[in-house]
Amino acid sequence: MRLALLGPPGAGKGTQASRICEAFGLLHLSSGDLLRAEKLKNTPVGKKIRDYIDNGRFVPDELMIGIMRSKLVSLVRQGFVLDGFPRTVSQAKSLSDMLDALNRPLTQVINLAVDPAVLTRRFEGRRVCPVCLSVYHVDLMPPQQNGICDVDGAELVIRPDDMPAVVQTRIETYHQTIRPLLAYYRDAGLLWDVDASGTVDEVWLAIDARLAGQEV
Ligand code: AP5
Ligand code: MG
Repeated sequence: MRLALLGPPGAGKGTQASRICEAFGLLHLSSGDLLRAEKLKNTPVGKKIRDYIDNGRFVPDELMIGIMRSKLVSLVRQGFVLDGFPRTVSQAKSLSDMLDALNRPLTQVINLAVDPAVLTRRFEGRRVCPVCLSVYHVDLMPPQQNGICDVDGAELVIRPDDMPAVVQTRIETYHQTIRPLLAYYRDAGLLWDVDASGTVDEVWLAIDARLAGQEV
């Protein structure tokens, strides 16, 4: 399986990508996690992308594609879930070229469609582990011990771009760019819409049933 997950900020891309990878033995590649790691390490790329991420705007296509290109080659043998990439038609076309050259095209694009009314609550309660990047929610997906990561015991943090003003820009950016991307993948016969407004388990059951059916 070679999958890409689309969906607005807070849709549950990271949450469902982790479950898919665990269930089907795939590798998870989150563009947001990659960018935050570059920013944290203050690499030359990290310096270039800092302002975009902090303000909730897309990183320029060329830069984003370059970052993904260097990672993709090592994933294709095992299968993968791309989380947050591509976000523009230009990124989608470059991805297609890269994967075609490796003879490993995408097998499915999953669009997590969410009622905007539920997104605010998801953002307000999100906590992430700065070490292993696991995602939690204070009410909806709490860790076993308040504020502590189940996996490695690190103290959970709030993502800097989860501030309400930045969230607003991220959601607007998403709505300004998503239509042509959905059309691109619909035309390619790869798009599958999933209602992601339900609980984590409900969304997961829908995805699992579909993917397990394909595996046979
Ligand atoms: P990125 O990190 O990808 O952020 P995003 O797209 O805004 O998505 P999120 O990570 O906020 O949400 P998610 O869908 O993963 O939801 P999660 O599982 O955490 O990108 C960050 C920035 O990087 C972008 O703004 C941009 O600047 C840049 N960038 C990234 N990719 C780029 C690209 N391709 N091109 C250009 N720039 C790019 O869930 C959210 C919360 O809800 C959690 O607390 C979770 O526990 C909870 N939750 C999840 N599912 C459910 C559910 N079903 N019910 C209840 N709660 C749930
Ligand atoms: Mg995410």
